[in-house]
Amino acid sequence: MTLIVRALVPTKVTLLGEHTVVYGEPAIVIALDKRLIIEMRRRNDNVITIRSSGLTIPNIEYILTPDSYPQVRVDSAIVSRFFSYIIQALSIVEEELSVRRKGVDILVESSLPPGVGLGTSAAISVGTIAAYSFLQGHVLEPREIARLGHRVELSVQGAASPMDTSATTFGGMLYIEPSRDIVEKLPITDIHIVVGYVPKKFTTAELVRQVRNLRNRYGELINPIIKVAGSIVKNARKALEKRSLEKLGELMNIFHGILEALGVVETEVARIVHVLRLAGALGAKMSGAGGGGAFVALARSKKDAETLRNVIKSLGASVVDAGIANEGLRIEQVGI
Ligand code: PMV
Repeated sequence: MTLIVRALVPTKVTLLGEHTVVYGEPAIVIALDKRLIIEMRRRNDNVITIRSSGLTIPNIEYILTPDSYPQVRVDSAIVSRFFSYIIQALSIVEEELSVRRKGVDILVESSLPPGVGLGTSAAISVGTIAAYSFLQGHVLEPREIARLGHRVELSVQGAASPMDTSATTFGGMLYIEPSRDIVEKLPITDIHIVVGYVPKKFTTAELVRQVRNLRNRYGELINPIIKVAGSIVKNARKALEKRSLEKLGELMNIFHGILEALGVVETEVARIVHVLRLAGALGAKMSGAGGGGAFVALARSKKDAETLRNVIKSLGASVVDAGIANEGLRIEQVGI
């Protein structure tokens, strides 16, 4: 029988702290029970094949002209970036564990599109690290998997905080503060969040670079803003612990203002966020790197959350139908 290993990895949404977490400030991130699956099947040679099913690739074009065969065009930058996380993760496992390449057929299954700020690249990195190291005979601790997953993101993107790889490895709601090496699970499962997304126009690396350039040009203005962002997140943690949802919502709105100041809020997301507030959200903000992509709203009740989901659909955006994933990364061995 062939050895098959499957890593089931949650995706994530950033509640607060994106971008400023890159400068060591805290963030609160929630793992979503919309799991990405990385399946690896051992081969008898040392060839690697990668296939994806159900993964929505944006901007596919099908061109049919009378005098030629139909042509399919995809945004090859997005596709090759997606595969580069896997290639990098395989190399990092081989280097860290000092093992030789083993041939595997890799299948990636995801119902979320890559690169909209919902942690698919972190999930792919973490899932590949976990599955490939298992296949190589090493069962790594979650902390180690998160560390190596972060290394993958750093080498593919150039800059990354450990936020997304921590969320997708450990699951639950996490408070993370990179400058003090803190990753804590918050025991909160009962808030109603609503998540949606629109296509993203820039990559995370480009947006992180854009913020860095702004900070280089206006250090004396942007550095205090980054510090204030950290205080907002600390206050939000207290509000969450006291279940002070109105306050948490207000802090989300304020944080959205910070992201506006940093120049990463795209027009369509800005409009959706404002409509969601008018429709009764306690708070609404963009989420992730920005430039389009994901947004998150806080609802007072399950019923209000449903109303907000309908509002998102009526605005032509996509809804992520998922709750908090309390359990993080899971590994299953299918064959032997
Ligand atoms: O890749 P995204 O859209 O989930 O955004 C990542 C969040 C940033 O704070 C912008 C970057 C990082 O590595 O934390």
